[in-house]
Amino acid sequence: MARYRRHVDLLELRVDFLTAEEAALAGALPGKVDLPVILTIRRKQDGGRFAGNERDRIRLLSRIAASGFAFLDLEEDLDAPALDRLISQSGAGVIRSFHDLQGVPDDLCERVGRLARSAREIPKAAVTPRCSRDLLLLLEAFEGLRHVPKVLLGMGDYGFPTRVLAPKLGSLFCYSSPPRQDAAPGHIDPESLDELYRYHRVDNDTEVYGVIGNPVMHSLSPRIHNAGLAALGLNAVYLPFLVDELTPFFQAADRLRIRGLSVTIPHKQSVIDLLARADRSVKAIGACNTLVRGRKGAWEGTNTDWTGFLSPLREAFGGSLPSGIGATVIGAGGASRAIVDALAENGGRVLILNRTPDRARQLAREFNAAAAALDDSGLEAMRGFNDLIVQATSVGMAPHSDEDPLPGYRFTGREVVYDLVYAPETTAFLTRALQAGCRVIRGRQMLLAQAFEQFRIFTGREYPLEAKKQFETRMDSRYPT
Ligand code: ATR
Repeated sequence: MARYRRHVDLLELRVDFLTAEEAALAGALPGKVDLPVILTIRRKQDGGRFAGNERDRIRLLSRIAASGFAFLDLEEDLDAPALDRLISQSGAGVIRSFHDLQGVPDDLCERVGRLARSAREIPKAAVTPRCSRDLLLLLEAFEGLRHVPKVLLGMGDYGFPTRVLAPKLGSLFCYSSPPRQDAAPGHIDPESLDELYRYHRVDNDTEVYGVIGNPVMHSLSPRIHNAGLAALGLNAVYLPFLVDELTPFFQAADRLRIRGLSVTIPHKQSVIDLLARADRSVKAIGACNTLVRGRKGAWEGTNTDWTGFLSPLREAFGGSLPSGIGATVIGAGGASRAIVDALAENGGRVLILNRTPDRARQLAREFNAAAAALDDSGLEAMRGFNDLIVQATSVGMAPHSDEDPLPGYRFTGREVVYDLVYAPETTAFLTRALQAGCRVIRGRQMLLAQAFEQFRIFTGREYPLEAKKQFETRMDSRYPT
């Protein structure tokens, strides 16, 4: 309580998490804290831990119900007239709840509408969207219940945005619990909710941005974008959206009036089909990482990986790439395609090395580059292509941080070496380059540069310097989400 007091407005006591001895003291809590307290004893079938029978639970509730709790959370099927009388005499409110741990019921709207047994009760439903279609269903229920005071939320990763956006969507409150003590799937800790997502600033007018991907909850983008939005004092929030199917997600995005989206794996290619307009970078690279609303609200796509890649590189070369620079790109996947395009467009001569040499040759043909395998023949081919070496495979990424994509290559110390991997911050490959005296560019620099460019496209404002500073050192997890 002391740790999170300034972030919370209401406290829920989950008696089902307590030992029997602790539960015996539960009635003393409301008198000891300066917050309204909700009393809840959640059954296993509803996602809680209470394993006893219903009679025991009602007895426990009855014993402590009249101890000054502001609300009791009682399930829709709980039938205990004596308990109801006790509660109404005590002046406590009732949150009448149901939980769906499997999905989102088709009749969610009607069901929530029927929950309250009197005008004094607050209906509450916690459901579990398992896909983008379910998220859409849930948002439709929010719409249908717009004028009903209620608590409605989506558990799990697909439902996460409905937690942060509770005030915008018209849910009375949002549940939160300390890190690693998640009282329900998808809980976020109070500090992250309040400081990272600025929950207390969210209202009906809050603009929504986000990143779509699968997986996506580990993404660093919310940290970067929310810090920028906060520093500029904008009424906007940036959220991770777990997305399996694009079509229902975009319907959900319309309901939320999402203004801009970052796109990550595996949607960077497939999202192109849904765009009203794609710029040159998207067409050349065949991948799109940034979506904004154009005229009449239609989605337009661009790719900031391109600029994100070039901007730290230009800096390393004192402003612009030397003409005719010889570069080796390791890898022939989606990331390499963007890089080869950026280098070719800027007058670079490019050699592509890949574990599967056919893929290297294919990419090389499109961009008039050279190609070789990732072996001794590749090392040989690198002569004349080693002013710059770009590592664009996943080799060396945590937890395999000791792997080196090109162990046979001896750095001369004159190369600029760029590794796209950002975790760990300095890969084994870059460590070797540094030891040889090379200048290096870390994946984190590209990640930040592409995000700053995206921020400019989203908001029309430069990413604020004061927010940039906090990312100049480590970007590690102050927020445990
Ligand atoms: P991305 O969009 O991140 O580039 P991708 O399109 O799946 O992802 O491409 C992954 C790249 O990393 C490919 O060049 C791949 O080599 P193959 O074409 O031979 O598959 C490369 N890669 C992945 N794991 C690798 C490994 N263990 N050793 C060498 N190259 C690897």
